[in-house]
Amino acid sequence: GAGLTVLGLETSCDETAASVVRLSASGAEVLSSVIHSQIDEHAAFGGVVPEIAARSHVEMIDGVARRAMSEAGIDYAALDGVAATAGPGLVGGVMVGLSYGKAVALARGLPLIAVNHLEGHAVSARLGAETTYPFLLLLVSGGHCQLLEVRGIGDMSRLGTTIDDAAGEAFDKIAKAMGLGYPGGPALEKMAASGDGSRFELPRALLGRKDCDFSFSGLKTAASRLAQTCETDQDKADLADAVQKAIARQLAERTERAMLAYAEAHEALHFVVAGGVAANKTIRCTLENLATKHGFSFMAPPMVYCTDNAAMIALAGAERLEKGLTSDIDVAARPRWPL
Ligand code: KG4
Ligand code: ZN
Repeated sequence: GAGLTVLGLETSCDETAASVVRLSASGAEVLSSVIHSQIDEHAAFGGVVPEIAARSHVEMIDGVARRAMSEAGIDYAALDGVAATAGPGLVGGVMVGLSYGKAVALARGLPLIAVNHLEGHAVSARLGAETTYPFLLLLVSGGHCQLLEVRGIGDMSRLGTTIDDAAGEAFDKIAKAMGLGYPGGPALEKMAASGDGSRFELPRALLGRKDCDFSFSGLKTAASRLAQTCETDQDKADLADAVQKAIARQLAERTERAMLAYAEAHEALHFVVAGGVAANKTIRCTLENLATKHGFSFMAPPMVYCTDNAAMIALAGAERLEKGLTSDIDVAARPRWPL
């Protein structure tokens, strides 16, 4: 049929994922999205163990990719391309998905599209509804915390970034110090629901600075120390609420700066939040209110496409393919790859 149909592969962290997406004039349609989470394999270690992750990707990738194809109900002959995350991420894992993608591309005579994982998150809101370029993007995940101006696929510039930890990393490390397990973000959000953090004073970072950068290490240290003083579940819930509010506040303060600058240079004002932390309801809601206040439309991916998935990689691949931006078959995996 009309449009471009792409198989996407994602193996840069602790999910082995494959998805088939069709991009046409009427938007992006997810034909299948299979995610095998390794959470159980890493939970005992309190975080992702790269060696375990890479080995698990090797075991799972073929089955996950075949399932994505069968759930999409199409034959390989119906594909227009194969997209795989080529970085940034844990390089052992990235190599598994990328090598698998190369093999499928070679065997089926299809173009290969190496996708930057961050570019996948950047287009992920389009999996739920049509978004128009350009837009202001807050990308908040376990590894990244950035404000970007997104003009189109492969055409973005960075307005701000974290000078130390990512927001998701702060959630994860504070949750770990509170004994909430891994991954910490969702656990901390749940705990915060029954808490009142008003009795805790947490540091506010980079207060005097006029740029759009973030810093979470001071908050992480202070909250981890406070975690040691928590005696009851109510203490923990109260601290969780304080932490969540502090992270939301910093994200909002920096995003507000970026919105003011963006609004000076653009007529159409669209704001998108994406990445794992965008699954947090308090943060989503805070940012939506901020967008409304400054005359921006607000978009976030459906919950299932906030955290790592392959549909966003397939979509970024399809958008690249549409522009003729394909990759050489010997393209290398990149542990670091800034947008
Ligand atoms: O995008 P993602 O799946 O992986 C990276 O590319 O990093 O994001 C994972 C991060 C983790 O740090 C996780 O704790 C955080 O997103 N996260 C959340 C929530 N769900 C996931 N943080 C806060 N609240 C949530 N509900
Ligand atoms: Zn991610």
